[in-house]
Amino acid sequence: MHSLFSQVQIGRLTLSNRMVMAPMTRSRSDDSGVPTELVPTYYAQRAGAGLIISEGVFPVALGKGYVRTPGIETAEQVAAWKQVSEAVHARGGRIFMQLMHCGRISHPSLLPDGSLPQAPSAIKPTGQTWTASGLQDFVTPHALSVVEIAAVIEGYRQAARLAIEAGFDGVELHAASGYLPEQFLSTSSNQRTDEYGGSVENRARFVLEVLNAMATEIGSDRVGIKLSPEMNFNDIVDANPQETYTWLVEQLRGLNLAYLQLPCSAPASTTTPCCARCSMAAT
Ligand SMILES: Cc1cc2nc3c(=O)[nH]c(=O)nc-3n(C[C@H](O)[C@H](O)[C@H](O)COP(=O)(O)O)c2cc1C
Repeated sequence: MHSLFSQVQIGRLTLSNRMVMAPMTRSRSDDSGVPTELVPTYYAQRAGAGLIISEGVFPVALGKGYVRTPGIETAEQVAAWKQVSEAVHARGGRIFMQLMHCGRISHPSLLPDGSLPQAPSAIKPTGQTWTASGLQDFVTPHALSVVEIAAVIEGYRQAARLAIEAGFDGVELHAASGYLPEQFLSTSSNQRTDEYGGSVENRARFVLEVLNAMATEIGSDRVGIKLSPEMNFNDIVDANPQETYTWLVEQLRGLNLAYLQLPCSAPASTTTPCCARCSMAAT
């Protein structure tokens, strides 16, 4: 308990304790991705944690994957997030914004002009997603060209800058749970034959380029990352996760990031529950 309530350094921040609130999607934004007035109150109530990691926020509108989720792209979104960071800081808390591009885990009804979701390869995930009109099957996504990949990376760079402009203490790249960065990392969703597919180095290129873009913009010590090797959530599998993630984490070592977040990836157990997934399996 003594350790839990002692200070810890994360990047350039000194946190007042070692409790970190995990990112959790709340779907309390309007249809333009602007957080509603509930959101500053919600986060301020949790500012006693050493660090809050926000719900997933789409860096560009084509990255949205769920109804009523927020973005960080327009002036209205930035202004609303400023109220959140100010409310948290007023209570002595710290907050990172999680940047979540859902890639193929989306649906045309959630995207501008009914666009297809974006992905490394045109491979439809098995499963369904919640839309405004209820559960709908995933669709076959659009395979990004190299030029479009560069535009997505620029979107992350701009989002990192806007998060800082909105008063956040840093940003986290959501590279877990089967969303776009993990879609590049994993063999089941990435069957490209160019420099973004094939070898581990090529499949990890997107994640590393995004991290580099954000770190160049706001400083690597204000950038964190979330990975979930072997979680296989959202119909994603890597043929050799040990090789992929060992190589990736070795590269991260050289980037001097603020932190690496790893959710529990043990098989969900109903007999010896250790995490939220176990609790869900038990109920
Ligand atoms: C309601 C809910 C919403 C979540 N939304 C997100 C999210 O937006 N981004 C994210 O990275 N993880 C999200 N998660 C996953 C949590 O951050 C966390 O990884 C998961 O609950 C497992 O935590 P544990 O390993 O500490 O048990 C969500 C979880 C829940 C229960």
